[in-house]
Amino acid sequence: MCGIVAYIGWQDAMPIVLDGLKKLEYRGYDSAGLAILEDKKIEIRRVAGKVAALENLVCENPLVGSIGIGHTRWATHGVPNEQNAHPHMGVSDRIVVVHNGIVENFLELREELVAKGVEFKSETDTETIAHLVEIYYRETNDLVLAVRKTLKKLKGAHGLVVMSTVEPEKLIAARLGNAGGVALGVGENEMFIASDIPAIVNHTRMMTFLESAHLAVVTRDGFMLQDLEGDSVNGVVEEVPWDAVAAEKGKYRHFMQKEIHEQVRSLADTLSGRIDYESHRIWLPGLNLSAAKAKKIKKIFITACGTAAYTGMVGKTLIEQIARVPVEVMVASEFRYADPILEEGTVVLVISQSGETADTLAAMEEARSKGTEVWSIVNAIGSQAMRVADGSISMQVGPEIGVASTKAFTAPVLDLYMLAVYLADLRGGLEEARRIELIEDLLSVPSFVERALAREDQVREVAERYKDMQGALYLGRGINMPIAYEGALKLKEISYKHAEGYPAGEMKHGPIALVDEHMPVIVIASQDPWYDKMVSQIEQTKARNGKVIAIATDGDERIGELADEVLWIPAVPWLLSPVVTVIPLQLFAYHVAALNGLDIDQPRNLAKSVTVE
Ligand code: F6R
Repeated sequence: MCGIVAYIGWQDAMPIVLDGLKKLEYRGYDSAGLAILEDKKIEIRRVAGKVAALENLVCENPLVGSIGIGHTRWATHGVPNEQNAHPHMGVSDRIVVVHNGIVENFLELREELVAKGVEFKSETDTETIAHLVEIYYRETNDLVLAVRKTLKKLKGAHGLVVMSTVEPEKLIAARLGNAGGVALGVGENEMFIASDIPAIVNHTRMMTFLESAHLAVVTRDGFMLQDLEGDSVNGVVEEVPWDAVAAEKGKYRHFMQKEIHEQVRSLADTLSGRIDYESHRIWLPGLNLSAAKAKKIKKIFITACGTAAYTGMVGKTLIEQIARVPVEVMVASEFRYADPILEEGTVVLVISQSGETADTLAAMEEARSKGTEVWSIVNAIGSQAMRVADGSISMQVGPEIGVASTKAFTAPVLDLYMLAVYLADLRGGLEEARRIELIEDLLSVPSFVERALAREDQVREVAERYKDMQGALYLGRGINMPIAYEGALKLKEISYKHAEGYPAGEMKHGPIALVDEHMPVIVIASQDPWYDKMVSQIEQTKARNGKVIAIATDGDERIGELADEVLWIPAVPWLLSPVVTVIPLQLFAYHVAALNGLDIDQPRNLAKSVTVE
């Protein structure tokens, strides 16, 4: 949830740390801070608010030094003020810590420390870590040992970096559990540490990622990894394939707008390398799947959070329709508490943009503990969900920075479609003509999306007329039902307007009571098998003076006459329609929020990677 950046090398650390923090603000942005070590002295600057406020502060009073750590926070313990911002210091001001995660036994540890006479300066759980390291250092005179002892005391999942004046030529980075990644970037006589690749990829692409219960002793010349017992472990340094430019806004006002428009390319990228154009066959080597294994699959259990879970719901229809394999979908925050029945032949499939979401990772662990095969569809390279799965499909869409997920919604829909075709083919259930048709349809998706995006001006005009609405209802059915959920989620996340996504058939069982001339009803009525039902839904809404904004296919005169507003999309094969119907809804949410002058890329109370439960 929080973002960590650290540097040790020959350059001035402050601008590197600040620049990295800006790239990580999507992870949390309620307070920020940094510490620089120079001449055996640590200087700290912290602010309530965003990294820009920290930048203003240090511009007036720069800190010079070639070792530094920084943090951008999403508050869990204590309000987001200067005092609670990281870095946190031990009592003697010799040791500072930046931390991501929650110390679950914080109260117990705090009591122990207070009993030993420690005075706390903040309300945070992180401060206990700084004090523990300090106390263990006093006992052992060995900083790495002190950090290891501290880690053993902590419950919960953590990523952290320790800097000190007692052993000033090193930084210690550690990871415990699934509190998000810790990437080490290797440069020439310099090292970078960050919670996520975009923070440091401008400086180096050579990286390694800490495993849980490992720590790294990082110096200017490199790093050494060890486990909690102090035994050496190996880490492989690899070149990360992302282009740093992909993490810049370019000509767009917001990352979200850029990422919405990027979908033509990101969808082409997710298909890339997976389709044999000669044979019209899908190839997903990351799943390690054979025909014999595919035939043994009796059920796929999809679990994920938020937008990723809605992708999974679309995937249910795709896999059941194309591969005829039963699919169950459950949000990951429920999965491990539901004691799910995972019989032989079940595969658990998780979907995650960040690959760090705590609930999703816990669901993977639950499935593992029951001996079930686990697959993942993940975007963030090197993330836990990608590494620990038995088989994985990479979304290949590049970094998603906007907190509201867009391109990481559409790409996994195509990945699930490919999975469905691949499974059907391996199981021998797909006639050649049908397979060719399915692949031809798939190849056209980027151009359908391009045509839907070309209507942005029209969507903005509708958003102008509705920007002051109090709330909205979103209705969909069948394969487009999850699109109603997703459209509503996008609107509420970034415009703070109440929005409900509903299966259209459920309207008459209650929600229709909400309909009046002030409540816009957004109806997804593309040319799919549920089209006629959606038309009658529009009629029922109009009969109650509701205002209808319909998503409809070019040339659909029936809906053109019935609805108050129509957001037009090109005709698209119905199995792939969610990738296109969602585009005007992403744009609509974006423009409503932009017209209200809201902070679209960093909406209140949210963070991009939800690494806490
Ligand atoms: C919505 C959104 C969230 C995420 C959810 C899962 O726009 O971004 O609902 O989809 O927190 O995150 P990942 O995909 O990283 O597991």
